[in-house]
Amino acid sequence: MTAPASLPVSLADYERLAEARLSAGAWAYFAGGAADEITARWNREAFDRTALLPRVLAGGAGGSTALTLFGRAVAHPILVAPVAYQKLADPAGECATAAAAEAQDAEMVLSTQASVTLEDAARAGATCRWFQLYVLPSRAATLALVRRAENAGYAVLVVTVDAPINGVRNREHRAGFKLPPGIAAENLRGLEASDSTPLAEGESAIFDRFMTAAPTWDDLAWLISETKLPVVVKGILAPDDAVRAIEAGAAGVIVSNHGGRTLDTAVASLDALPAVAEAAAGRVPLLLDGGIRRGTDVLKALALGASAVLVGRPIVHGLAVSGAFGVAHVLRLLRDEFEAAMALTGCCTLADIDRSRIWTRS
Ligand code: FNR
Ligand code: LAC
Repeated sequence: MTAPASLPVSLADYERLAEARLSAGAWAYFAGGAADEITARWNREAFDRTALLPRVLAGGAGGSTALTLFGRAVAHPILVAPVAYQKLADPAGECATAAAAEAQDAEMVLSTQASVTLEDAARAGATCRWFQLYVLPSRAATLALVRRAENAGYAVLVVTVDAPINGVRNREHRAGFKLPPGIAAENLRGLEASDSTPLAEGESAIFDRFMTAAPTWDDLAWLISETKLPVVVKGILAPDDAVRAIEAGAAGVIVSNHGGRTLDTAVASLDALPAVAEAAAGRVPLLLDGGIRRGTDVLKALALGASAVLVGRPIVHGLAVSGAFGVAHVLRLLRDEFEAAMALTGCCTLADIDRSRIWTRS
């Protein structure tokens, strides 16, 4: 851990410093979106074009950012999103992130494709208790992973449903990105039984291979029936899908387009949120990710129906710039900015953050 030359004061500062520190390939992997990266851009633009309507003279004694999520008492609504292969940014990888998350009282979601074992990550940070699950082609393998997470003390399962195949990652292709030796999906060792028989003439790699193993609503219902942990479904944009997930027994929904890394030109997550919130009608907590870079972004997401948000790339930027210290600082900056945004919009508690804080043209 080395201190950065000039002290970054915003998440954008960390982004610039991280680009200078990372290899071209790692930068392409972390920063990239799918195809023309239009959704990744829209995620940001949706926040920038949403104007706040501050209320004044509201006081603020006894203010708090605390909430309860899936039975867990949480200090603030800013979570660490699941991001694969964090050893690309720091040799300690997800363990450094987990230590920093604990230091900043931030709940952390560990990726199925983490570059450390889920047991090591849980030991590294007491708030790393959410495990992100990719449903694997074999139910036995999926269940083995779930049982390991349960035994290691994970308290929430996050099932990602928007990436049955990788997006068209042109930026990675151009950079020729490949995982370097020594960095791998440690939790999938010995588990991934992918079909490696050559394609027959006329067969499609997507339809005849990947999508034959892609998870369905039946798999979600099966998973929910197999675990006592709350299951949160990540990667929903359509209101009807949110309703279907809730009816299948999901404990929560994460409105997300995977940071624009899967389907390019999919709607910005903030733009999708209000209709999902209306359809969910308060039955389960909604979370949102994609483009959160400022405390005001957190406030806007909460005002439009989210209970909490997740942050992806900025965490990796902090990690690349100065390891656990950088991640902790990124989280601290966001927390401070969020508290300032609450104070300046006249919100004492999260319950005060509602649509009235969003300006609409009359
Ligand atoms: C991701 N994301 C992700 N999501 C997931 O469910 N499992 C994963 O393994 C990964 N891996 C991953 C790697 C990298 C490099 C990125 C940038 C993202 C998506 C992530 O959880 C989240 O949805 C987005 O990153 C949110 O957008 P922002 O905050 O990066 O704009
Ligand atoms: C990604 C996969 C790992 O976005 O979810 O890179």
